Amino acid sequence: MSEKPTDYNGPERVFSGVQPSGSLHLGNYLGALKKFVRLQHEHDCVFCIVDLHAVTVWQDPKALADQTRHIAAAFLACGVDPKKAIIYPQSRVRAHTELAWYFNCVARIGWLNRMTQFKDKAGKNSEKMSVGLYDYPVLQAADILAFKGTHVPVGEDQKQHLELSRDIAAKFNNDFDVPGFFPLPEPLIQGPGARIMSLRDGSKKMSKSDPSDLSRINFTDDADLIAKKIRKAKTDAGVIPETSEELEGRPELSNLIGIYAALSEQPEDKVLAEYAGQGFGVFKPALAELAVEKLKPITELMNRYLAAPDEIDTILSSGADRADNIATPIVAEVRDIMGFWKV
Ligand code: TYM
Repeated sequence: MSEKPTDYNGPERVFSGVQPSGSLHLGNYLGALKKFVRLQHEHDCVFCIVDLHAVTVWQDPKALADQTRHIAAAFLACGVDPKKAIIYPQSRVRAHTELAWYFNCVARIGWLNRMTQFKDKAGKNSEKMSVGLYDYPVLQAADILAFKGTHVPVGEDQKQHLELSRDIAAKFNNDFDVPGFFPLPEPLIQGPGARIMSLRDGSKKMSKSDPSDLSRINFTDDADLIAKKIRKAKTDAGVIPETSEELEGRPELSNLIGIYAALSEQPEDKVLAEYAGQGFGVFKPALAELAVEKLKPITELMNRYLAAPDEIDTILSSGADRADNIATPIVAEVRDIMGFWKV
C-alpha cells in the first residue's frame, strides 16, 4: 500500500462496506470483495455490512436481517476469513451513528450538494427522498473514521464519497486543532474491475438498481443464466482488436474484455493477444465459461453458509463485539476533543 496519510502516525487499517440491499453482482465482486480477500492477508481489515445505509431507501423489516446474513455469506464464500478480518453489521455498533452526527456538524451543505450519487439516485424526486439518503456520504465518512481507517478498497463509483471523507477528516483535525487525529483515508480503487459496466449499456455501471436483470450477473445466477446473460450482452459488429487503444469507442467490448481480464487475473493486453481477430461467437462462450468457473464455487459455498444461519450469526456477533472495542474508544476521544460535558 502507499505511504501513510499525511500527519497521521497511527496504525494502518483497511475499512470497507457493502450494502445489504438486493443481490450482489459481478461489479461488487470485482470492485470490492475480491480485493477484501487479498488485503486481509497483510492488513488489519474491517468489513462492514452497512444496513444503516440500506435503510436510506425503504427496506422490508421482515427481510433486512436475512439480507445482512446474505452479504455475510457472500463475504465468507468469497474467502473473507473471520479469524483474520472483522465482519459485522453496522447497526450493531453505535459509534457509526454517533460519529455521523458530529460529522453532520463538520460537513458543509455545499459539499453534500455536489455529491453526484445522490443526484443520480434521486433524479427529479430529490424533495421526496429521505434526509438519510442525502446524508449518506457523511455516515460513510463516520464508518471509516470511527475505525481510523487509512485505506478503503472500493469501486470507482465511491471515489467522490471518499474525497468527502478526506475533507471531513481534514476539517475536523483543523477546526479542533488536532493535527493527525483522523487519517485522510485513501481509496484503493485501481486495478481491473474498478468499474464494471452494465451488460446492456456500456455507458452505465453494473448496478443492483438497474431494472433489467440482464444488465448484471448476480451471485445467485446459475451457470445457464450466466451464459445466457453473456450471450445476450450488447456488443458491436467488429472483431476483437489487438491493442487496448483500439477498444476506444467500443464501450461494451471494452467492458467484456475488462471482466475477462479481472476474472482471469491477467492484463487486458494478454486477453486481447489471445482473442485478437476473433468474433464474439468465440469470445463470449469463453467468457461465460470463465465466469461460471469463478462464480459457481462461490455461489455453492454461499448457499452452504446460508443453510447454517446460526453460524453466520455467531460470526457477526463476535465481529460486532470486536468492532465495538475499536470504535467506541475512538468516538469517546472525539467527544473529549469536542468538549462535551462529562464527570
Ligand atoms: P455498494 O453496496 O453499492 O457496493 C459495494 C462495493 O461494490 C462496488 N461496486 C462496483 N465496483 C465495480 N463496478 C461496479 N459496477 C460496482 N458496483 C458497485 C462499490 O464501489 C463498493 O465498493 N457507499 C457504499 C457502501 C459503504 C462504504 C462505507 C464503502 C458504506 N460505508 C465505507 C466503503 C467505506 C456502497 O453503497 O456500496
